Amino acid sequence: MQTQTDYELMEASLERAAEVCDDLTPLVYGRFFDAHPEARTLFHMGERTRGRMLNEILAILLELAQGHDYMPATVRELAKDHTSYGEISDGYYRGLLNALTGVLADQLGSDWTSARERAWRVQAERLMELVAQGVALCGGQTRASVTPSQPANP
Ligand code: HEM
Repeated sequence: MQTQTDYELMEASLERAAEVCDDLTPLVYGRFFDAHPEARTLFHMGERTRGRMLNEILAILLELAQGHDYMPATVRELAKDHTSYGEISDGYYRGLLNALTGVLADQLGSDWTSARERAWRVQAERLMELVAQGVALCGGQTRASVTPSQPANP
């Protein structure tokens, strides 16, 4: 049996998701905001902007999976540009990618195979490495994880 590439596995996951779900956007952001409620205040535009951002994330992951060599510079630049929206730590990027794969897992059910899960995880890790480089380039604002602005027990 011929082994499927990460790109093929990821594309097949998205095709299946489109069959069972009209729009991933509210599900992904809903899951992300459940885990990071304080991140809501960063977003001032509506659902369409969030949809465009999610589409861009999916496009980048698919392009990384295809090995496009311009991607590292593109992602680093994007992470750098995003600092204009507020303090966006690499923990938020990870949170968003976790929300995306969590929603895909829920939507696909038994079609979320271990091969598909691995393909998304591998490409998400590559994206995270590039994001960390981009965040570091714009003043070392990289954080290992999201830290609350106020300590729980000051
Ligand atoms: C690789 C990951 C990401 C990609 C590719 C990406 C892409 C984009 C794009 C293309 C836009 C502009 C959308 C438009 O105006 O049409 C945007 C806006 C924005 N992004 Fe991201 N983004 C990423 C990660 C994040 C993360 C982790 C956060 C914070 C949790 C974030 C917060 C924002 C905010 C606040 C805006 C402005 C929209 C608003 O105010 O509602 N992004 N992003």
